[in-house]
Amino acid sequence: MGRWQDLNRREFLSALGAAAASYYVFPPGRVLAGELPQAPMKFAPFEFPPEFIFGAATAAYQIEGAWNEDGKGESIWDHFSHTAGKVKGGYTGDVACDSYHRYKEDVALLKQLNMKSYRFSISWPRIQADGTGKANPKGLDYYKRLTDALLEAKIRPLCTLYHWDLPQKLEDAGGWPNRDLAARFTEYAEIVTRALGDRIKHWCIFNEPWVFTFLGYAYGTHAPARSNFGECMRATHVVNIAQGQAFRAIKAVNSKLEIGTAFSMSHCQPATNSESDRKAADRAHALGNVWFLQPAMKGEYPAAFPAGTPLELMGVKPGDMELCRAQLDFIGVNYYRRQLISAISPGEGESATGVHNYDAHEGPLTDFAWEVWPTAFYELLMRISHEYKGTPMEVTENGCSYLDGPDDHGKVPDQRRIEFLKGYLDQMGRAMIHSANIRAYHHWSLMDNFEWAEGFTQRFGLVYVDFRTQKRTIKESGKWYAKLAESGDLQ
Ligand code: FCB
Repeated sequence: MGRWQDLNRREFLSALGAAAASYYVFPPGRVLAGELPQAPMKFAPFEFPPEFIFGAATAAYQIEGAWNEDGKGESIWDHFSHTAGKVKGGYTGDVACDSYHRYKEDVALLKQLNMKSYRFSISWPRIQADGTGKANPKGLDYYKRLTDALLEAKIRPLCTLYHWDLPQKLEDAGGWPNRDLAARFTEYAEIVTRALGDRIKHWCIFNEPWVFTFLGYAYGTHAPARSNFGECMRATHVVNIAQGQAFRAIKAVNSKLEIGTAFSMSHCQPATNSESDRKAADRAHALGNVWFLQPAMKGEYPAAFPAGTPLELMGVKPGDMELCRAQLDFIGVNYYRRQLISAISPGEGESATGVHNYDAHEGPLTDFAWEVWPTAFYELLMRISHEYKGTPMEVTENGCSYLDGPDDHGKVPDQRRIEFLKGYLDQMGRAMIHSANIRAYHHWSLMDNFEWAEGFTQRFGLVYVDFRTQKRTIKESGKWYAKLAESGDLQ
């Protein structure tokens, strides 16, 4: 795979397929040469089974604030947001939604919304300031208090161990491309599950490993802002090893704990019906959707590169694939939008995956310019359900950013989010009828929060947050979702 190493940045980006630079970048829509995709269809009314779990999701760095309190160390996101020019508007997560101090109010909101599950994450540098050594009791205490408040409100905690806030000290020691991180992460996973495994039964090891490795190490648009393609591919392998090892360590702490990962996934739709575009779409699916799932479930990398997986570049050693193996108890799906995929034709430049991907812009766009196209959600759920038969799925994130704010009566009328929810839940219901084993749906997000490199310029919440006063107001979509969560009845 010598050619791979020789690619320059532009060539690399154009070659990555579902892993392409268009993530979080919005090229104008392209006219399709081939067959047009089906129009969105309506499937409701649908009645969710009584045991179905409705919930909402957040992540530590996006809501907690208190970035240097109670012994917390610096994370790569503290470092990134404190560096001029990295986050839009110069925003930081120093205060965010101040949930570290207001968690009781936030749990009360969840209860008011009839949520049965809350997906939140633990900030690693709150537990180990430098990423190694003894646990910080104050950090653990915070998550104990939060969890106890949830259990008291009869809300299931679904805890993510890593939602991108690596201790900066570990980045200084090489970050995710450094193989030692697998052991560091496993130790952290052990500490946390030992301390909290008595009250939290459901765990996500990682949030969106594709996003934090590619955006963090290849594109440099997220922390730690590196753009080194070989390091990115190495990081993907270390993360796969870390996933397998942490899985075993957690099971050794308590075999009853249920463990998955929340994978970023998008429906990779061939731009035309040609065989080459269909094959390219399969490669895009391999790299973008299952690069961290297939090694766990099947002990192998999926076929994303026509010339073969760049094992040497990735630092894969004999026996590694056994380390990556982990029979996850559930598959977490974070779903936002579809991508259209075409094959790069010969002469269009060097290509490692031979894939060109772009965001479809046929449906309506959210205020973040992400396309609303619910049937693609159905397609993705069905595909994963076929490829990983027997393993339950949880939708760990799905949502949309609309900037609607309070009106003169203090209401937040966000009808577009209600329409979004109807469309996506409708297609999820359709997948369930067609035998997809989906047991939970978490809306992203419980409340407006710090949207990574976008700062506070996007609003994904069911609850509006006034960031000057920290006042929370349940949006009309929140009220709509609360009713659905109670009745299970999708009209
Ligand atoms: C996902 C992230 C989540 C949030 C949503 C909008 O990629 O997991 O933290 O930012 O996008």
